[in-house]
Amino acid sequence: MSTPETFIHRFEPATAPGLPPLLLLHGTGGDENDLLPLGHSVAPGAALLSPRGRTLEAGMPRFFRRLAEGVFDEDDLRRRTHELADFVEQARAEYGLPAPIALGFSNGANIAAAMLLLRPEALSGAVLLRAMSPFVKPPVAALTAKPVLIVSGSFDPIIPEENAARLAATLGGAGAAVEHRSLPTGHGLSQADLGLVRDWFAQRPALAA
Ligand code: MLT
Repeated sequence: MSTPETFIHRFEPATAPGLPPLLLLHGTGGDENDLLPLGHSVAPGAALLSPRGRTLEAGMPRFFRRLAEGVFDEDDLRRRTHELADFVEQARAEYGLPAPIALGFSNGANIAAAMLLLRPEALSGAVLLRAMSPFVKPPVAALTAKPVLIVSGSFDPIIPEENAARLAATLGGAGAAVEHRSLPTGHGLSQADLGLVRDWFAQRPALAA
C-alpha cells in the first residue's frame, strides 16, 4: 500500500465548502505544479491534490512507461494505475477528502482513464484533456453514472479522433455519463478548453461532496 509520501505531490486544502477535490495529473515532462493554476481556474475553492508521475522518460516525469508515442507498456500502466489509486486512497485518509474528480492532461488523462477502468472507486468523475484509449482490450468496469468530460483536439497529431471516440465509447459502455467534445485545435490546451471545463464544473453542483 502506498502512503501519500510515495508520490512527490502538492496538496492545497479547499477554501470553499461543498466542492469535490480535484486530482490533478500532468502531461509528459510536467510536474506537480503544472496544473494548479488550471485547477484554481476551473473549480475555484476546491481542494487540489497534485502528484508528480514517478516514471522518467529521458528525464521527463510521466505516470507510466510507453514503448513509443501512443504505444503503452500496459503491464507497467496497470501497476502504476494501482499505485496511483493507492496513493489517492492514502491521501484521502490523510487529508480527509471524498473521492476526487481527476483533471488530467495527455499522459495524466491517460492514467486517469486507466484508473476509471481499473479502480473506479478511486474517482468520483474525470475530466480528460487530450486522452486516448489506455488499453488495447479495455477491462470491464462498472462506472454507473460517473460524470466524465473528454476534450479532444481535431488536429491533434498524437491522438487520432477515432481513438478518443473509442475511449468515449468504452467509458460510456461501462455506464459513465460521458460528454465528448472536440475542439478545432492540436494537442496543446487552448482558451476554449478552459471554457468547456469551467462550464462542465459549473453545471455540476450535484458533484459537490
Ligand atoms: C502518452 O504517452 O500518454 C501519450 O502519448 C501522450 C503523451 O504523453 O505524449
